[in-house]
Amino acid sequence: MSLSQEIIEQFNKFFKKARVSGEPEPTAMVLATSDGEGLVTSRTVLLKALDENGFVFFTNTHSMKGQQIAACPRAAATFLWKASGCQVQLVGSVSKVSDEEADAYFATRDRGSQIGAWASRQSEPLDSRETLIQRVRELEREYEGAEVPRPPHWTGYVLSPETVEFWTQREFRLHDRFLYTLDNGGWIKQRLNP
Ligand SMILES: Cc1cc2nc3c(=O)[nH]c(=O)nc-3n(C[C@H](O)[C@H](O)[C@H](O)COP(=O)(O)O)c2cc1C
Repeated sequence: MSLSQEIIEQFNKFFKKARVSGEPEPTAMVLATSDGEGLVTSRTVLLKALDENGFVFFTNTHSMKGQQIAACPRAAATFLWKASGCQVQLVGSVSKVSDEEADAYFATRDRGSQIGAWASRQSEPLDSRETLIQRVRELEREYEGAEVPRPPHWTGYVLSPETVEFWTQREFRLHDRFLYTLDNGGWIKQRLNP
């Protein structure tokens, strides 16, 4: 189900406010995933796109989060914009973006990050940093003079929210909270107690 124009506009307004307030990483969101059996984990990822389908981030599908999303395709994410006193929280379902979208984004990354995506077995134990650097050197040799293709285990995911909450800091902790909830194909907006 798609995000409403109102929600996208509200998000963009908050995002812009964060940016002009000097937030150092305004695209950073803390993403929580679960194995579906009670283990919940979280980490920061960067928002790379937003449209009516949802919030897009890129990662390694073999990582902890990738494995959890495969087992339980649901997630929550929180943007904290401290400089502007705002927060946005999302809860919803997660799916992979198309191969075309993943290829297109991978092609915009700098070469070092493209090689890094092949070199890093994200979330697996690593015996030493030297091992990783060695892998990078080997890959640089392998792809010398050639384009680096997108690894099959590296792609984008879109978090399609069912709830979106906008939080604004106010005096005496009497903060404003507005919760949008997907309901029968439409979005309901409610004010919540702080
Ligand atoms: C500011 C910041 C941005 C990050 N952005 C990403 C990202 O976009 N994608 C990603 O896979 N990891 C990103 N990371 C690293 C993750 O937080 C995490 O360490 C990694 O994805 C492995 O997570 P997992 O083992 O829980 O799957 C970022 C970390 C920080 C601190």
